[in-house]
Amino acid sequence: MRKVVQCDRSPQPVAVAVGVTIVVAMATFSACQTPPRPPSDLIAKGKNLFFNETFKGNGRTCGTCHRAEANLSINPAFIATLPPNDPLFVAEFNPDLKKNFENPKLMRQFALILENLDGFEDLEKQFVMRGVPHVLSLRTSVNSPQGPRTGWSGDGAPGDGSLRSFATGAVIQHFPKTLNRVAGVDFRLPTAEELDALEAFQLSLGRQQDVTLPLPLKGIVPKRGQEIFLDNSLGKCNLCHSNAGATANLGGGNIGNANFNTGVETLPDQPADLTGELVPPDDGFGKPGDGTFNTPPLVEAADTGPFFHNNAIETIEGAVAFYDGESFNNSPAGHTLAAADPEGVGIELDGTQIVAIAAFLRVMNALENIRQSIELLEASAQKRFMERQQAKELLKRAITETGDSIRVLKGGGLHPQAVAHLKKAKELAEDAACSIFSRHRLTEQAIEEQKNARNELVESSPARS
Ligand code: HEC
Ligand code: HEC
Repeated sequence: MRKVVQCDRSPQPVAVAVGVTIVVAMATFSACQTPPRPPSDLIAKGKNLFFNETFKGNGRTCGTCHRAEANLSINPAFIATLPPNDPLFVAEFNPDLKKNFENPKLMRQFALILENLDGFEDLEKQFVMRGVPHVLSLRTSVNSPQGPRTGWSGDGAPGDGSLRSFATGAVIQHFPKTLNRVAGVDFRLPTAEELDALEAFQLSLGRQQDVTLPLPLKGIVPKRGQEIFLDNSLGKCNLCHSNAGATANLGGGNIGNANFNTGVETLPDQPADLTGELVPPDDGFGKPGDGTFNTPPLVEAADTGPFFHNNAIETIEGAVAFYDGESFNNSPAGHTLAAADPEGVGIELDGTQIVAIAAFLRVMNALENIRQSIELLEASAQKRFMERQQAKELLKRAITETGDSIRVLKGGGLHPQAVAHLKKAKELAEDAACSIFSRHRLTEQAIEEQKNARNELVESSPARS
């Protein structure tokens, strides 16, 4: 019997323990406190719905595709670890969903999901195959003067198009028991209160505001990458991904979370096409579509590949290189940039510059993962002895984030010293998760190692704790 009080700084009534992980874990997903936050119980309710509610459907939840362990997205490597009865694979074991619901081959190979964005009239031919976007930093990436923009083409939500309504569309698309899709029979629709809670939860995820560039980066290659990214006559990235976020300032003003046709659909040799499976063209926003897609934020990109709406490109280097290619430069967006360029050039980058921009995006991603890890570790350190199960959950999430930081930096051959600190931080968090006596001490040491890693990436400034 464990009867230790060393971690228990001020003893609490036992009743606290029944709150399980939800309430506490939630508060820690969020970042800065700038915008008014909904009450944490609403967020907690939304979290529970997101990961556990099947809406009386085929067994899937929102978390079936937006996996907590995979940055609220999903990728082929993660899919390969799932058991055959995971609800992601309903089309493989539920006879009613065998045809025209998913394409299991494309799901397993490329993490592509079937969506009937233009309606359910012709299930055989009218669909698109899309990757699963993470649902992080939605607070910074949904608003535009034309209204809210959700999903890869910005028109993912039914009704008013809002993030709140998105869940209704997701249930109808992804949750039915049969393709009749009759509400009350094949699934139940979320209630107004559930939509509120789901929205509150999703808005609490990830960054609550945009970063301000340039950052005082230490690595010479990422630093040069940042310069090129911000240079409106060279990389031109910042025109659409302002501050590596999802809002554009093309033409001078901030035009919010805008849509563009950047030519991704015209890429040759797209992986899904190479399989010979039917992949109808994706016409983007609206019905019929205008060929445009919505600008995603880039801070979260490096560890949430494959990239673009069709998961066409596996690596972040490849995604940056796309902008140097024919598909982009012959696209409407490419032509717009060329028309505004004194030399008539859209985007032209050389190999070293492509890698430099990718290095910048890798470092941005690692910094965000470090920020989240520190937040999780700090929340975990505050848990008392009776709450050690919750502390462990938070530690586990910090460990996952730290693993991402390591992969993202190592994958670009960047900042080996920071990688060493992050490995230590991960080991310390792992030890803390198993320790009864030394959990607090080990967690504090893990936080120190995270900060050491950050100090390798960026000059410390008073604003950063
Ligand atoms: C079967 C997999 C799957 C399930 C289950 C699923 N989603 Fe998604 N989700 C996707 C895909 C694919 C997209 C891209 C949709 C698009 O481009 O319109 C997406 C997009 C989103 C977006 C848009 C993100 C952005 O950056 O604009 C939100 C929000 C979202 N999902 C929330 C939910 C919620 C809430 C649920 C549960 C009610 C849910 N999803 C269930 C696959 C799924
Ligand atoms: C004209 C606007 C525009 C410009 C300029 C632009 N982007 Fe994009 N970017 C987009 C849009 C729109 C998408 C989504 C396209 C899609 O999925 O079809 C996107 C997607 C991406 C993605 C994939 C993100 C993900 O999560 O899948 C990356 C990476 C990216 N851009 C990096 C860059 C870089 C680096 C530059 C500069 C070299 C740049 N972008 C310039 C509009 C732009």
